[in-house]
Amino acid sequence: MKNKLVIGSDHGGFEYKEMIKEHLGQHGYEVVDVGCYDKSSVDYPDIAKKVADVVNNEKIDGIVICGTGIGISVAANKCHGIRATLCTNEYMAKMARHHNDSNVLALGQRVLGSDLALSIVDTWLVEKFEGGRHENRVNKIMKLEE
Ligand code: RB5
Repeated sequence: MKNKLVIGSDHGGFEYKEMIKEHLGQHGYEVVDVGCYDKSSVDYPDIAKKVADVVNNEKIDGIVICGTGIGISVAANKCHGIRATLCTNEYMAKMARHHNDSNVLALGQRVLGSDLALSIVDTWLVEKFEGGRHENRVNKIMKLEE
């Protein structure tokens, strides 16, 4: 993982996108922000696609946020190469990396406190894929795209 991430949200996740972007900047990450850029209503599939394109083109990880995290994670998972994992606690963030080789973290602004959201981000950033028996399973997931 490079010290660079892409982040995107719809209007329902805009405030947490700004908060997480600032947090990442303070920890030395370069952050590509694909929007949205204010609280005006936008469609989360459009943002998910923008994040997915940067993840694939730049070979970096991404973070997506909407109100619940559900819609934007479903949309991101329809995009080639994406394993978006909706996490509501640090254990899920850890396992999303260890077992699922998550390359996109999905969060819900309306369902998480701000400190918890940042703690989930921090956990997801440091944890790594375990490989081994999980490699074959992740490969099978990616083959479902074919
Ligand atoms: C937008 O109101 C809301 O539907 C969206 O942010 C997200 O929660 C969808 O899953």
